[in-house]
Amino acid sequence: MSLSIRKLGEHLAAEVQGIDLASPIEDSVFDQIRKAFYQHTVLVFRGQEIDDDQQIEFSKRFGPLEPTMVNDPSGGGGWISRLSNVDDEGHILPASHKKMLYLKGNVLWHSDSSYKKVPSRGALLYAEEVPPEGGETEYASMKAAYASLPDEKKNTLEDLVAEHSLLHSRNKITPGVMDQKFKDEVPPVPQRLIRELPETGEKTLFLGAHASHIIGWPFERGSALLDELLEWTTQPQFIYKHSWKQKDLVLWDNRCSLHRGRPWNAENYRRVMRRTTLLGDGPTV
Ligand code: OGA
Ligand code: MN
Repeated sequence: MSLSIRKLGEHLAAEVQGIDLASPIEDSVFDQIRKAFYQHTVLVFRGQEIDDDQQIEFSKRFGPLEPTMVNDPSGGGGWISRLSNVDDEGHILPASHKKMLYLKGNVLWHSDSSYKKVPSRGALLYAEEVPPEGGETEYASMKAAYASLPDEKKNTLEDLVAEHSLLHSRNKITPGVMDQKFKDEVPPVPQRLIRELPETGEKTLFLGAHASHIIGWPFERGSALLDELLEWTTQPQFIYKHSWKQKDLVLWDNRCSLHRGRPWNAENYRRVMRRTTLLGDGPTV
């Protein structure tokens, strides 16, 4: 079987064809996938029939996994986050359900786990069931957004550190959704605003919904800068929009891209996704 890689967006995303993720993958083939991942930031694999264990196995080839948070309504301390509007009996959850309120935060542009001291390297999301319309996921390249900034601007950003917190992003959309135990699990953390990707030496912006302000600056000034950079990063030319089909697996690099989930008619249509998350190398500060 020969692998083919077809670009999907101008600055990010490619589809990988000619691979069955349920079968053993030779190292030489996996190396091509890894290279494509670092080159394209988002990789799409369509028509994959994989269960939880096969997803975990494939994910681990990229490096160690990040466990879900104990207090996360879609996690619970295992290797899989279940982003689903369906309960264990197969009924659609009401919009007021705690899990739905918590998942609502995903509509904001974010990088997974940027609120953890060691932010995630990447994530793999598999579509078990998808709605007939809506529910797409959009990805924006923080790497391309950085590269297109004027040099003087890049220089002013170089050494800045932002504070990231899950409470900050959840308060923007569903205040009160985190109880005290959950807040204690994820205290605010510092993250460099400009990161370097070790595999390629490229630099990237690092921001998103969890980033509240710049450490050492007046709050309003820092949040205004983060808003400005977010607007820059999410311009149409830096975006790839993924319209899900059942059995799609999408892999993305959380270090140099943002993503957000788009709404769908969640009261009527099921959307059942499962995610594995790649552990980052270490703190950015
Ligand atoms: C995620 C996420 C958005 C979506 O899995 O990390 O943000 O569209 N998903 O489900
Ligand atoms: Mn996410």
